Amino acid sequence: MSLLDSTPSLTPASQLYAALVDALPDPILVVVGFERDDLTGRRYILANAAARELLRITAQEGMLLSAVRDPGVLETVDKALFDQADAEGVYETTGAQSRNLRVRARPLGIGAGGARMALLTFHDQTEARRVERTRVDFLANASHELRTPLASLSGFIETLRGHARDDVAARDKFLGIMQAQADRMARLIADLTSLSRIELDEHVAPRGVVDLVLLVGEVVEAAAPLGAQRRVKLDWRPCAAGQVFVRGERDQIVQVVQNLLDNAIKYSPDGAAVRIELTSDLSDLAAAASKEGVPRLSLVAPDPSPETYAALRVVDLGPGIARQNLPRLSERFYRVDGQKSGARSGTGLGLAIVKHIMNRHRGGLVVASAEGEGSTFTAYFPTATAPEGVVKAS
Ligand SMILES: Nc1ncnc2c1ncn2[C@@H]1O[C@H](COP(=O)(O)OP(=O)(O)OP(=O)(O)O)[C@@H](O)[C@H]1O
Ligand SMILES: [Mg+2]
Repeated sequence: MSLLDSTPSLTPASQLYAALVDALPDPILVVVGFERDDLTGRRYILANAAARELLRITAQEGMLLSAVRDPGVLETVDKALFDQADAEGVYETTGAQSRNLRVRARPLGIGAGGARMALLTFHDQTEARRVERTRVDFLANASHELRTPLASLSGFIETLRGHARDDVAARDKFLGIMQAQADRMARLIADLTSLSRIELDEHVAPRGVVDLVLLVGEVVEAAAPLGAQRRVKLDWRPCAAGQVFVRGERDQIVQVVQNLLDNAIKYSPDGAAVRIELTSDLSDLAAAASKEGVPRLSLVAPDPSPETYAALRVVDLGPGIARQNLPRLSERFYRVDGQKSGARSGTGLGLAIVKHIMNRHRGGLVVASAEGEGSTFTAYFPTATAPEGVVKAS
């Protein structure tokens, strides 16, 4: 008979409490002690399953020192036992997956034979701290990225009000720079807003159906002026199928293609070509690997459900990316060292946006690159059937 089948009146209260304590997800211990200087006299008389797992003990009771050796935790216990005060501390586990736990001790009064008792609880805050650290880093990065163009704007305003006041040539030049800096700030804010919007509905599946051939064609066409400006040829190779329908939200897929294309153009050498290829009806993604011998890394793993995928591949002949930098590409604000300034400007948000969009679309994102070998970014989108009213071209 399970606990749930039985009513409390049929189960002795002590059994019910024991089961309850054991089922608590947070580790708890009940500790007793007699004299402050009698360290070996401190014992735990109850340790729930979570506590036994955390402290790697098998017995439900035993000497406290055999379960806990951390001086901070022992001090916390002593405050509750001997000062009759609530106390708090932190417990860090060591090892490959170190955890950070908040420890709380509360006095439980005096028991039989004058034993002082305390309740010791642990609460795992590793994940909460990681999220907090990410938030702090993000704010620091975002404000740093905004501060740089803002400082430049302030500097030029000062110059224009001061010694360049009557210098027409200098004024034109400075206004041009100021415009570029203001544009940069606007772009950064647009990217940040877009990122937070995408993250907000990342768990809501996209509804639309999009013809990828048409969409990519439009993005490539729109990127032509940028390509011409950088003297990079855009070699667009739609697949033979004519139309390729994928499930997704048009605007977000446009963002994916734009960002991959923008990077490929940005990192291409003068006069080189960027190849944009589309393949449909892929079912075995592993077999669809690109260049042999070049390290590849999946930045977003596609949903493994047995669907077919359309693959959009953007291939450039740029400087490539060293293997050790591949895993960090889709982190917010991450830029490979040495690319912090110059013509290859950017904030490092593009691939973070791409990653979240691909996640939402249950698609995949794979990068294959090596230094001096160029880069290939492949986005995999789950295929959809043609929307009603559309006759699929053969
Ligand atoms: N095709 C590529 N070739 C070489 N390096 C690349 C390529 N694409 C991305 N990278 C590297 O990855 C980094 C992150 O790319 P991401 O698109 O996120 O940022 P960005 O292009 O620097 O800035 P943003 O896209 O926000 O304007 C780039 O700074 C660059 O170092
Ligand atoms: Mg980019």
